[in-house]
Amino acid sequence: MMAKHVGWGLVLAVATASFAWGAPTAAQKEELQTVAALMTKAGALFKAKSFQECGEVVQQAQEKISQLAASRDKVILRQLEVHHKRLKSAHALLELEGVELPELLPLEPPEPSAAPDKPGKTKGEPEPAAAGASFVNHVAPILITRCGTCHVNQIKGQFSAANYGVLMKGAGTDGKVIFPGDAMGSRIVEVIESGDMPRGGQKVTAEELALLKKWINEGAKFDGTDPNAAITTFSSAPAMPAGPTVAPATGKETVSFSKEIASVLAQNCTGCHGTNRPRENFSLFTFASLLKGGDSGPAITPGNGAESLIVLKLRGTGGGQRMPAGGLPPLPDDVIAKIETWIDEGAKFDGTGADVSLADIGALAKAANSTHEELSADRAAAAAATWNTAMPGVKHDKQESANFLVLGTVGENTLQDLVQKAEASTPKIAAILGAPSDQPLVKGRLTVFTVSARYDFGEIGKVITRSPGVPGDIFSLWRYNGVDALGVVLVPKKSDGSAPETLIAQQVAAVAVASTGKNVPRWFADGAGRVVAARLAGGDARVREWDMAVPAVFASLPAHDAFLSPKYEPEAGSIAAYSYVRFLMNDTRRFTQLMEGLRQGGRFEEQFLAAYGATPNDVALAWHRKGPGKPPKPPRPTANRAAKSE
Ligand code: HEC
Ligand code: HEC
Repeated sequence: MMAKHVGWGLVLAVATASFAWGAPTAAQKEELQTVAALMTKAGALFKAKSFQECGEVVQQAQEKISQLAASRDKVILRQLEVHHKRLKSAHALLELEGVELPELLPLEPPEPSAAPDKPGKTKGEPEPAAAGASFVNHVAPILITRCGTCHVNQIKGQFSAANYGVLMKGAGTDGKVIFPGDAMGSRIVEVIESGDMPRGGQKVTAEELALLKKWINEGAKFDGTDPNAAITTFSSAPAMPAGPTVAPATGKETVSFSKEIASVLAQNCTGCHGTNRPRENFSLFTFASLLKGGDSGPAITPGNGAESLIVLKLRGTGGGQRMPAGGLPPLPDDVIAKIETWIDEGAKFDGTGADVSLADIGALAKAANSTHEELSADRAAAAAATWNTAMPGVKHDKQESANFLVLGTVGENTLQDLVQKAEASTPKIAAILGAPSDQPLVKGRLTVFTVSARYDFGEIGKVITRSPGVPGDIFSLWRYNGVDALGVVLVPKKSDGSAPETLIAQQVAAVAVASTGKNVPRWFADGAGRVVAARLAGGDARVREWDMAVPAVFASLPAHDAFLSPKYEPEAGSIAAYSYVRFLMNDTRRFTQLMEGLRQGGRFEEQFLAAYGATPNDVALAWHRKGPGKPPKPPRPTANRAAKSE
């Protein structure tokens, strides 16, 4: 019953928040604050599962509320509304724990309503008889209070009343307990009339039983909005507010979450509201957790920035400490105003995913909106940090060019030579990929780490791929995520027939493909990178290793398209992708069309379909039928063919 506890948490802090409005007189304000304090205390007790004590505190709050309500002051009543609503859910939740509480009277309506209520009869009874019996208003409260401990919180006797849907299904294999239109024939009535149910404590009153029967005889209809919503969300067990849902941005908003807010929250809040025991259980790590809120419930009320808890806390008007706490300076007013406006505009989401960290969302948005120079500078700073993480205390040389930033321990001269060769290949790579020659191949450049010890390769590989280890038999790894564009190359001390620039060409081609369009899958970029390297240097020892491996990998595929899954074994998957993408690239017209579509910003799935007339999985069938081809012959410069065609 986690949800319940969460729901109760909510009760409390919105109470605090409402003080932002300020109360009429000092004395009344003090009383209101006492109520808020009591609610907070009750919430803590509930969390600690001290239900009886919690009930006592709730009772105190309830008394104070009815005293305050007696003033019939409009402003006070308005402020009390929120407390009262929370009290109602507190009642429902406590009743589920078997705590008895005095009846919660309705607040007097703040303004005389259109249908004038007779003053005498406002006292809390549901209004059964006149209209039809309602599931939401009458039956749900009975089931919660009388049967809830065993049939909402638990499923005793395989019978659950947790929501309308399961209630109507009935008990286990015995089947229905409610027959619409036939109360007397319904098992649920029988077990109550016989005195069998409820077990223990509180009996069903005659009036409640009459209501239940009436409802069944009237057809046992559902009058809420969602028959599968938890029964505790209804009527006297009212709204247990869940966080708002993720609403995608329309593009018309004036404030962009990913560009203007994500990084602010990631930088200023996640120290205390991160993944590790966030304060008040409020995590700002992802958009999903931001929306969910903390112990006080959702911190964001879409459409209402000024009264959203997060804004109140940022302005210091939400009770408790001003955020960010811990003596940190408050956020600038204009930043808070941005957040408020963003919430006013519906708290729309324009990031990559609700479960992606806000830091990544912010960084991604920043990278997307940076120039080549800005992004290059950011990546240079990030490269230094990455080096220090992977190789603390180890000195390195550095070389820069239009398309590359290369760091390494292979010696200054080797590094310089490498960068020159890599730079010399880029126009050829651009031509193979159909990329414009007047722009950098990779916006923000590719960072390449070059090392000569396998151990170092592994250390850097772990950091850049964010994995616990890297395979022991590979020489090259790359990673691209919109923010980082990284490669690491192992340069053996004694040449083994492979040139490191071949691997750099592979990486820059892979990253160039990965950074074109949207949703480009890893297999496609990886395969394309290898095909490009093979076309440039068909005789390279690494390329020959890939070629040699193709038949065995091909034979071991459990299905023709198994390697398209990101979960497929990485190196084998890359070898299969290498063969498959070569097949795709052999159809130059279609491949050019695909790359062109991606360059226009298209999504990979759509562009692939448009270019090849089928999905990657289906086209893989054609590739698979064709077979892996013959094992490679001794080096023959396939590369020159590609080079000539330019
Ligand atoms: C304190 C626990 C408890 C409470 C409260 C309770 N029940 Fe039960 N109920 C049980 C148990 C235990 C069973 C399992 C069957 C048995 O032991 O007879 C059960 C079984 C049932 C069944 C299915 C078995 C049958 O005989 O058809 C129905 C229907 C049922 N209860 C209805 C209710 C209703 C309606 C309420 C509230 C008015 C209620 N119960 C309250 C404990 C409880
Ligand atoms: C140094 C630690 C720290 C930092 C940094 C921090 N908080 Fe808090 N936050 C707390 C503590 C402690 C509480 C609970 C006490 C309180 O509300 O006064 C809290 C409570 C909150 C709450 C209320 C949550 C609830 O459900 O009750 C919100 C909202 C909040 N913080 C937002 C933020 C935001 C937004 C930032 C960044 C701008 C931030 N916090 C930065 C420590 C911190």
